[in-house]
Amino acid sequence: MKTYRIGVIGLGQRIAHVLAAMKEVGWSLELAGQVDPAPVGAPILAAAGIAQGREFADPKALLADGPYDLIMIGSPNHLHLDHLKAAFAAGCPIFAEKPIVRTQAETFALARLLADVKTPPLYIGLVMRSMPIVREVIARVDAGELGTLVSMDATEHLPPEHGGYLARNWRRRQEWGGSFMLDKVCHDFDIFGRMARARPARVASFGGKTIFDSARTDVPRVYDNGEAAYALRDAGWMGANDAFHSDMDVTDHQVAIVEYDSGLRLAFHSNSHVSLQERRWYVAGTQGTLLADLVRNKLMIRPALNRAKPERIDYANRTDDNHNGADQAMATDLLSALEGRARFPVTPQESMEAGLTVMAIDQAMEQRVLLDCAPMWAEYDAAWAGRAAAAPALTS
Ligand SMILES: NC(=O)c1ccc[n+]([C@@H]2O[C@H](COP(=O)([O-])OP(=O)(O)OC[C@H]3O[C@@H](n4cnc5c(N)ncnc54)[C@H](O)[C@@H]3O)[C@@H](O)[C@H]2O)c1
Repeated sequence: MKTYRIGVIGLGQRIAHVLAAMKEVGWSLELAGQVDPAPVGAPILAAAGIAQGREFADPKALLADGPYDLIMIGSPNHLHLDHLKAAFAAGCPIFAEKPIVRTQAETFALARLLADVKTPPLYIGLVMRSMPIVREVIARVDAGELGTLVSMDATEHLPPEHGGYLARNWRRRQEWGGSFMLDKVCHDFDIFGRMARARPARVASFGGKTIFDSARTDVPRVYDNGEAAYALRDAGWMGANDAFHSDMDVTDHQVAIVEYDSGLRLAFHSNSHVSLQERRWYVAGTQGTLLADLVRNKLMIRPALNRAKPERIDYANRTDDNHNGADQAMATDLLSALEGRARFPVTPQESMEAGLTVMAIDQAMEQRVLLDCAPMWAEYDAAWAGRAAAAPALTS
């Protein structure tokens, strides 16, 4: 079996977990070199028995030591575009973490680049695409079991330790992470767009920082069993000391409504400090209803005019990281794609559209408007076509 020579830019927790999953599913790999000022993923890598490889000062030096069979990008989100550009120049296949880039301007720049230059294969870590439960949801929708998709609601609720980590990690700052929803739920909006086979036409959103707010006094810091709260994880690169007194400028809870071009209407609710964790999609079509519980890894579906018990599928395989085996499934998909046996389940274009969807939601929240997404899509399509977008029509 071929041994994959791998170079990593950004050896954080995520890439270390992905490398561990790759090894677990049978990849033969050598981490030949990496660029990271202080690799947060080092202990995870050590636990997986993978040597850290040679340290390089910057991507240019790493890539000069190529060729690599795979470059993996796991840096904070604001660095993705620069790191992608460097990897494109090297010409090796790339696995890059989501969100593919952080802003609308970066998305348009990337589209222009992908349209202009012959770039190497690019695989984005929208890991939910590889989950058996998600594949099944997409297959059922595609098979028409729900009929025309009419409306849906979805949630992503995180326990206090996870929210406290986000409030201390680099994700707390727009300049590094983009936004709470971009970093956390671009996965979900990727699947929603795929199910709808449409783009959002109009979006609105409300959100704020009410939980990890320094104005709050007497915040309890201990669980009822005596364990310390908000203290479990090292906050990593640019980490802040205290979840309640950091310079966080992203939301800690947010709701959104979206109307897709196809007519599908969606309500989304997200909170980063709940005691009843949930990630759930409830999808109602003209001919059936589907409920996917992504935390418990269970799917329920029934035709609208069926009086039998709903069909229930329990995918089991629950893991503490809540990825429920998705990393291993994605590692298998990545190997199949590199060996030319199957297409990777998500494209760079889909990853960019998922990002833009969430960016539009954030823009609507910031501007306190019901946002018409058409100008954004026009600019995006123009970027792919290599031309400037037409000036938006002025309305009185
Ligand atoms: N697909 C998923 O489910 C998933 C889960 C978690 C994170 N992610 C994504 O993975 C990426 C990394 O997140 P993480 O949780 O591993 O964060 P992390 O903080 O654990 O790791 C980020 C790493 O980047 C390094 N870094 C900082 N500046 C750098 C530079 N100039 N060059 C190279 N490396 C640099 C840091 O030192 C750190 O080791 C993010 O894009 C995040 O959105 C995806």
